[in-house]
Amino acid sequence: MRDYVEKLISRGEMRVVEREVDPRHELAAVIKRSQAESDLPLLFRKVRGTAMPVVSNIYGSRARLCEMIGADDGLFCRRWRALMQGMKPTSPDFLARAAPPAGLREGRLSDLPQITYWERDAGPYVTSAIYLAREPDTGVANLSFHRSMMVGDDELRIRLGSTHDLTGYQRKAEARNQALPAALLIGTAPEIFLAAAASLPYDTDELSAAAQIRGAPIPMRPCATIDLEVPADTEIVVEGEILPHVRLPEGPFGEFQGYYVPVGDNHVFRVKHVSWRDGAIFHGLLCGSPEDVRLLQATIAARIYAALVDRVPGVIDVAVHAALFGTVVKIRPQYDGHARHVALAAVGSHMDYNKAVIVVDEDVDIHDLHDVWWAFLTRGRADARTTVIADVPGFYRDPERDHWGRLLIDATKPRGREAEFERRRIPGEEAIHLADYFAPPRG
Ligand SMILES: Cc1cc2nc3c(=O)[nH]c(=O)nc-3n(C[C@H](O)[C@H](O)[C@H](O)COP(=O)(O)O)c2cc1C
Repeated sequence: MRDYVEKLISRGEMRVVEREVDPRHELAAVIKRSQAESDLPLLFRKVRGTAMPVVSNIYGSRARLCEMIGADDGLFCRRWRALMQGMKPTSPDFLARAAPPAGLREGRLSDLPQITYWERDAGPYVTSAIYLAREPDTGVANLSFHRSMMVGDDELRIRLGSTHDLTGYQRKAEARNQALPAALLIGTAPEIFLAAAASLPYDTDELSAAAQIRGAPIPMRPCATIDLEVPADTEIVVEGEILPHVRLPEGPFGEFQGYYVPVGDNHVFRVKHVSWRDGAIFHGLLCGSPEDVRLLQATIAARIYAALVDRVPGVIDVAVHAALFGTVVKIRPQYDGHARHVALAAVGSHMDYNKAVIVVDEDVDIHDLHDVWWAFLTRGRADARTTVIADVPGFYRDPERDHWGRLLIDATKPRGREAEFERRRIPGEEAIHLADYFAPPRG
């Protein structure tokens, strides 16, 4: 992460905050306000109560996500599919042995920034936490995000989703009355962050996946107190174990849907060791903000895209919106009812999320919901192009069934009347630089 942060600073693509900020609400408020007007990342150099600077919003831009995986044409889904298609589940060649970085420091959890994000959060949380653990039987490595409540120097409380691989590992260990060793990685190279965000098959080793995205082995160093190796250039590593048969209250916490998740009895991570590189930078991620959802949206869109191109023709790109629940598919229509086939296939491609699927023509910007909605409202009837599928679950954590049901919308031009819906344009508009036309303010 540090190399990437330095690259962004040198390109003038980092908002640097020199004044001291309070980690309780002020830091989060600045991130939120900054994200409302710009997708630039932020570096807070002075955070009260800690020596560590905090970086945020690194992953909050689609252009940067494309850059990270070499999608030079801006088509994240297509490039991601190509990376996944050639991927080997695992190989020892993907990892390299490295010595611990010079000047590795040891300390306590309370040395890290204690960031409280939302008003009713139970306390400070680590939100960019990537848990690295190995499958108890096969040793396959998994990387996954689980926000963690900081309870004291020895304890974090974490919420494991029922469908997550780490939850499966923990269940296996617990059935043997064993704790599950895990290392919490804060501030990793982008490839590791991307591999952690993706839901890859259970047998795919996500460290190997990260190495294949990078195109080079990942240098690993041993942990001090648990039998695991961690990427050597990780800024901060918290070693410990998830305790068996222990659940304690965690939350409330303001999370990605825009509401507070209430207190629940969740897993306990016993901290055994905390270390960081000299000059470590902490990564503070505002949950539900563009940094959180853009990446998740991109990886979900890529998964839907990969399923669609194998099943239906004419699919160009996929975008996911609105806290992950809306999918937009761009197609080149080829036959009557084509858009409906695509919408149905999209729903069947991912059992969670895609609560509403909207299919649009090639000339619509699928990343702009205003444009998508314009296409639906101007290109035909509302009633005849909308299909409701009732009584289908849509999200793995939904006790009240708020996410049941699906809405399919065909927002493409009416077949045979395409010429009437040619989008108007002004030649040369894209090349205009407004600053060349306006006089500087007088005085
Ligand atoms: C930046 C980011 C933060 C996330 N935070 C959480 C979280 O706190 N809790 C959670 O259950 N899922 C969170 N997720 C979603 C998934 O847990 C995540 O994509 C996970 O790594 C999937 O891993 P798995 O399929 O290998 O289990 C987050 C995803 C991203 C991209």
